[in-house]
Amino acid sequence: MKVLAIETTCDETAAAVIERGPVVLSDVVYSQIEEHAPFGGVVPEIASRSHVEQLTALVEEALTRARLQPCDLDAIAVAHRPGLIGALMIGVTTAKALAWSWDLPIIGVHHLQAHLEAAALAGEEISTPYLGVVISGGHTDMHRVEQAGRSKWLGGTRDDALGEAFDKVAAVLGLGYPGGPAVERAALQGNPKALRLPRTLLADDSLDFSFSGIKTAVLYRWRGPNATYPGRAPGAPEPQDICAAFQEAVFDVLAEKIRRACTQESLGEVVLGGGVTANQALRDGLAQRLGNQFRLVFPPLQFATDNAAMIGALALRRLADGHRDDLELVAEAQP
Ligand code: KG4
Ligand code: ZN
Repeated sequence: MKVLAIETTCDETAAAVIERGPVVLSDVVYSQIEEHAPFGGVVPEIASRSHVEQLTALVEEALTRARLQPCDLDAIAVAHRPGLIGALMIGVTTAKALAWSWDLPIIGVHHLQAHLEAAALAGEEISTPYLGVVISGGHTDMHRVEQAGRSKWLGGTRDDALGEAFDKVAAVLGLGYPGGPAVERAALQGNPKALRLPRTLLADDSLDFSFSGIKTAVLYRWRGPNATYPGRAPGAPEPQDICAAFQEAVFDVLAEKIRRACTQESLGEVVLGGGVTANQALRDGLAQRLGNQFRLVFPPLQFATDNAAMIGALALRRLADGHRDDLELVAEAQP
């Protein structure tokens, strides 16, 4: 069983062909980073237009690399929520057109659930129930997952998502966009003990997150007590030390929340996904803090950030469960 999968929820245009297993037969991603970089963040209209320009060629390339014809496919899968509505509509409309013209079933896939499916692309055995932790640019969520695609939400961020906090810290320090990889690189040269940044844990039993406080703390440490300096204030810590201290603080918070959730829900297995899991220091930091208590499963590095392979992997599972959508499928911005 083989599916062609399409991902256009935000600023990556991606197509992949996945076979039952899951085995990735092809996986192509066009990153729009250079188009958005001059604006310091994703511009929705630019994202939509870029998806229109890139997607058809990417679909052809995914099929060519997999050495398949449309008639070899069993379904078309598409991430249809959540995301930027214009961007989603390009993917969904293209998927519907292909499904109609090639006479194939279509399967709408939830982008965030698919992030948790990315771990399966490493061939890892994942047993349910598990704690699913999605840490991306738009979300920081913990779910009790009973089976792929069926889960109970346990908690999430009340303000900034973790990826967003990385991006904003990078912006404050002038490290460029996207911020996550820039902060990770800078932190490698930094001393995490050079300063201490706040850990916001909320109420004792809370499974929610708040990252706006640490972001503001970074702003004040860099630009002075009232953020009066346009750039670095005299005596401000080194940027690489701020990055290292920021990572230490957010890893502490994540570890504590994961520990709480696993304890409250009696879970021993934690599956993580989303762009921030591309951060090697985060993988090592969580393993160090939690590895002796829980089994942590991360996606292969190349499938941590947005990609279509994870969309195909979840679609295959749903297809095997007998699930099909039809041409009434719509794009939805909200989870
Ligand atoms: O999952 P993703 O590709 O897109 C969304 O669904 O949002 O996540 C993108 C986020 C961005 O905020 C980006 O800065 C962050 O993931 N990110 C990282 C790293 N690579 C990407 N954050 C920290 N360290 C990284 N190496
Ligand atoms: Zn994502």
